[in-house]
Amino acid sequence: MIDGKIRTAVIGCGRVSRTAHYSTLKDNDDFDFVAVCDTDKSRAEEWGAKNGVRAYTSVDDLLDNEELDFVTVNVPNGLHPQVGMMAAERGVHVMCEKPLGMRLDEADELIRLCDEKQVRLFTVMQNRFNATNLLLKNALDKGRFGELLTCNVTVRWHRGLNYYSEDNGWRGKRDMAGGVFTNQSVHYIDTMQWLVGAVPEYAFACMSTRLRPVEVETHGSGIIKFKNGVIGNLDLSVLTYPDDREGSITLMGETGTVKIGGKSMNKILEWDFATPDPEDDEKVMSADYEPPTVYGFGHIEMYRRVARVLKTGRGVEDVPDGREGRKAVEILNALYQSNDTGMPVQFPLGSEE
Ligand SMILES: NC(=O)c1ccc[n+]([C@@H]2O[C@H](COP(=O)([O-])OP(=O)(O)OC[C@H]3O[C@@H](n4cnc5c(N)ncnc54)[C@H](O)[C@@H]3O)[C@@H](O)[C@H]2O)c1
Repeated sequence: MIDGKIRTAVIGCGRVSRTAHYSTLKDNDDFDFVAVCDTDKSRAEEWGAKNGVRAYTSVDDLLDNEELDFVTVNVPNGLHPQVGMMAAERGVHVMCEKPLGMRLDEADELIRLCDEKQVRLFTVMQNRFNATNLLLKNALDKGRFGELLTCNVTVRWHRGLNYYSEDNGWRGKRDMAGGVFTNQSVHYIDTMQWLVGAVPEYAFACMSTRLRPVEVETHGSGIIKFKNGVIGNLDLSVLTYPDDREGSITLMGETGTVKIGGKSMNKILEWDFATPDPEDDEKVMSADYEPPTVYGFGHIEMYRRVARVLKTGRGVEDVPDGREGRKAVEILNALYQSNDTGMPVQFPLGSEE
């Protein structure tokens, strides 16, 4: 347990750090934001100076020179396990941005090392804390859907050439980013499996790369059959003309249909149940909110919950840890494997669970 403030460094000074991490850290009194690190020297220096903290260009130097309790790993997806393990080796708690990793074996290695070194591992899945998703989860837990039947995810967004060429082009690389299934849709896939509440049985996917000079998939469809019989459908594209049109998740059961959309699952678009529940139904209007970006406001809540766990050891079940983050990685690995082989893929994959 950490007495006093949690001495924290942010690794990776890119888009997500600027949009969702620096200000969140500075506004939360439980954290002492002491350093940033980025292999790009000018970025490290710029954001070190802007935040008034020390700047490093190597993770080793950062860990050798600072007495840290906690790091956030905000580097390209494929590097999360490797960077997370460097911190864990030195007994520093780790929070990885989404997804926990690109490869299930690497995510498992990180989880195992964190267990061995007795450090906490968290995965940023901030949309689980949206008022909209919490209301939906509550309705599910109360049994309002009757028998749950299907869960549909639609991501119809637009990502142009610049999106893939910026930042050394990592967003176009299969091992670093993944395409629309991972990089744009992992929050939706995580929310799907969290709502469905059962382990997957098998998955099938068909993906394609068109119109952009990249290795990653630009569009595709997937099916995930869960052990409780629920069928998950994915309809995903970043080639939607002319711009972002829809990002939504729809849950359908015997006695209920709910659709959540907006930039980051922040609007309830449909809320229909056979039996009214005035207490819940009244909250539907106020659950909608308007975040400034697709990142939403969930990082604030993520940090609050992480602080509680690190300082008190309580509330562990309220914050996505490494094993929670692993669930989406396993599903994504199965979907890629299915696309590569043209065959459905059975769960579980990998070695740990
Ligand atoms: N939770 C969310 O909603 C959300 C939103 C956007 C991005 N993300 C995730 O955040 C992560 C970063 O995305 P981004 O858009 O900020 O990328 P970015 O390219 O803007 O920033 C990444 C930074 O990491 C630095 N870097 C690369 N390798 C490094 C290393 N070994 N050590 C230190 N620094 C290194 C790069 O120089 C770059 O400045 C990704 O995993 C992405 O998927 C999450």
